Amino acid sequence: MKQPKRYTVTAALPYTNGPLHIGHLAGVYVPADIYTRYLRLKGKEVAFICGSDEHGVAIAIKAKKERKTPQEVIDHYDTLIRNSFQTFGIAFDNYSRTSLKVHHETAQEIFKTLLGKDVFIKKNSVQLYDESAQQFLADRFVTGTCPVCGHPEAYGDQCEKCGSALSPTELKNPISTLSGSQPVLKKTIHWYLPLNQYEEFIKEWILEGHQNDWKPNVYGQVKSWVDNGLSARAVTRDLEWGIPVPVEDAAGKVLYVWFDAPIGYISSTKEWAARERKDWKPFWQDKDTQLVHFIGKDNIVFHCIIFPVVLKAHGDYILPENVPANEFLNLEGQKISTSKNWAVWLHEYLEDFPNKQDVLRYVLAANAPETKDNDFTWHEFQARNNNELVAIYGNFINRVVVLTQKYYQGQVPPPGNFNPEDEETIRQVSLFPDRIGQAIERYKFREACNEIMQLARFGNKYLAEAEPWKLVKENPERVKSIMNVALQIATALAIVSEPLLPFTAKKLQKMLNLNSDFNWHTISASVQLPQGHQIQPASLLFEKIEDKAIEAQREKLNTKSQKKETELITSPPKDPISFDHFTALDLQVATIRTASLVPKTKKLLQITLEIGGKEATVVSGIAESYRPDEIIGKQVLYLANLAPRKIRGVESQGMLLLAEDLDGKLVFVCPETKINSGTKVS
Ligand code: 2FM
Ligand code: ZN
Repeated sequence: MKQPKRYTVTAALPYTNGPLHIGHLAGVYVPADIYTRYLRLKGKEVAFICGSDEHGVAIAIKAKKERKTPQEVIDHYDTLIRNSFQTFGIAFDNYSRTSLKVHHETAQEIFKTLLGKDVFIKKNSVQLYDESAQQFLADRFVTGTCPVCGHPEAYGDQCEKCGSALSPTELKNPISTLSGSQPVLKKTIHWYLPLNQYEEFIKEWILEGHQNDWKPNVYGQVKSWVDNGLSARAVTRDLEWGIPVPVEDAAGKVLYVWFDAPIGYISSTKEWAARERKDWKPFWQDKDTQLVHFIGKDNIVFHCIIFPVVLKAHGDYILPENVPANEFLNLEGQKISTSKNWAVWLHEYLEDFPNKQDVLRYVLAANAPETKDNDFTWHEFQARNNNELVAIYGNFINRVVVLTQKYYQGQVPPPGNFNPEDEETIRQVSLFPDRIGQAIERYKFREACNEIMQLARFGNKYLAEAEPWKLVKENPERVKSIMNVALQIATALAIVSEPLLPFTAKKLQKMLNLNSDFNWHTISASVQLPQGHQIQPASLLFEKIEDKAIEAQREKLNTKSQKKETELITSPPKDPISFDHFTALDLQVATIRTASLVPKTKKLLQITLEIGGKEATVVSGIAESYRPDEIIGKQVLYLANLAPRKIRGVESQGMLLLAEDLDGKLVFVCPETKINSGTKVS
């Protein structure tokens, strides 16, 4: 698109089932904020839209676990998340909530329009059902083995290891996360979005139309989806928590969270437009609007295939011009994990590093996981702060402002006669805004970051070579020109760093006493600060971070995650069960007779047991803890009446009981002394 009239920029709606961590900022919100701040500085009309994603199974599970209502859970995290965004300067035009009326109505209206156009296929199907919880198991209420990559802990909606989108019935060996039991299949009715009918549309629009301007990681994921063939996806669920399906025969059913969440961008825009007394429609329905979705890589299929198909099928909406999804940020070499508390939470960071939002913004953008997963380390955080923000950016500004105060009582000196180096320096400086802008427009935020620091480096180098402090006595006229040039560089820096370092840029603009005449356009046009312009005294922009603060963070990370592991072992308490439930378990002592590795697996042993003169075969995931030869003859605890299931082609009859220690090592639970095999345990 050449020159859009306006921009609608969305950032993934975070789930309100936990606080935000650095991975969220790096992957989605800092890039989106840099992009929109830049557009605004260029005078563009922008709606920067986000909100809390408050439906879905993850929230229902969290509420169940914490014995709260889903509403209590979402209210708590919505407040926490809002605060984090605000304190980190993520300047949304609107931050909404999908639990609001405007959203329920918008999502239902879109569903009904699609229904009216006969887009959906209403199908009877069999779904997994937990008989003890008396509930259908949608999405994350069920885990099992990924049919694509074999990951044993895939969720019913997605495998987090290989990124495949799944439906619960595709999982091998499914287990209900509600009760730990094996679900049964039960009939139910749902509405399906026939993605298969839209393959040509996706091919033409993305695979042919965006081969060159979409990021290879995004394009590649879409291509592999299309190459594997798209299939119809249910857009409704049997659940209590969510937006009721707006048709008569749908009691107990809600819209699938991934059907309603992206529509949240539209409802959030509506909420904003009503407040601003604007019309929301052009932001979603005018072809001269550029729509951009900032997301993490696990959201690609929903934003590049499912949501666009909804928009296309509806007919009134524009499609995204780009979906610059990022990869994941790791932390100190490990995947960020909420359950293991391996994360740097934004609210905790601010307690330890008050007023250092820009430092984190800078480090995360400079090292953003743009093309591959990247690692955040506290040592890099310290190095970028001390060696770049303090030693280059802060040092340059400090020298310019302090010398201007010292030599000219804070008044910009006249340029005098610029020599060729001064002219060239000014020319070079005027090229930076465009270079930085182009990087941002191409979603290359690391490059933009680097260019901004390059400008500060350039200023430092200019001053170091011109050495005004050595010339001030013998050649005061020359020093005026030097300081004038240095002040122009500082001015450019104060503007171009605003999208990346909004807090610092504001401080710097105040120090340099810049008014709104100084903007992205004017700084590209050579000399800026007029002679005699009064600047303020220097104030500190960045300060050194000492080793002990970094060590404290590393230690905190390890302690927190260890504490979490201990918690995981001692808790959570499970709901009480009746005595009948307990006696329903047929626990016996069994003796291991043979054991061998299941071919083409690393973890599974096929084991023959002897139980009171009978034999049974079980497949057990213990090969990383025990060699086959060391368990022969062992007496172990055996659950005999677990329904048989096939694991890697072998029928496993019952299950061996093991305990798992902190390192994931499994140990058998054995009788204290030898006893007849087949003895009952109660
Ligand atoms: O992955 C997530 O955190 C989702 N809550 C993102 C939703 S983005 C959009 F579609 F709303
Ligand atoms: Zn997988």
